[in-house]
Amino acid sequence: MKIMIINGPNLNLLGKRENDIYGDETFNDFFTTLQFKYKEVELSQFQSNIEGELIDKIQEVGYTYQGIILNAAAYTHTSVGIADAVKAIQTPVVEVHISNTYKREEFRHKSFVAPNTKGVIVGFGLQSYELALQSFLTEEGSDGI
Ligand code: DQA
Repeated sequence: MKIMIINGPNLNLLGKRENDIYGDETFNDFFTTLQFKYKEVELSQFQSNIEGELIDKIQEVGYTYQGIILNAAAYTHTSVGIADAVKAIQTPVVEVHISNTYKREEFRHKSFVAPNTKGVIVGFGLQSYELALQSFLTEEGSDGI
């Protein structure tokens, strides 16, 4: 099973960015642990601060991979382009957020992407990515769409 994690803007700064909100671990350290734990999955990751590059990557893997775990970060709340890309592809997408965006500023409560996803996991720290991964491994609870 091929699963790709796609991370949006500023998530390259995990570990040194607003540690009280996003924790102390770098994404690469977390990703290495995840790969080790889920050896049966062909897990890859991509990060960009550029909206169009995120759209290109979603299009590139969106017909061949079995799942995309997407944290579009700030673009979640602004990007019709990323939302359209998620809608266009065949690969199911699970949206994740590290922080509980519903506890934060009101502009973070809106996701353009969420209506086009299989589901959303919000507020469990980096564990949000692992929970999303598990959702691809056990299809139970899926709405089947
Ligand atoms: C985030 C939440 C977004 O509102 C924010 O812009 C981010 C990270 C999260 O994972 O908690 O950059 O997507």
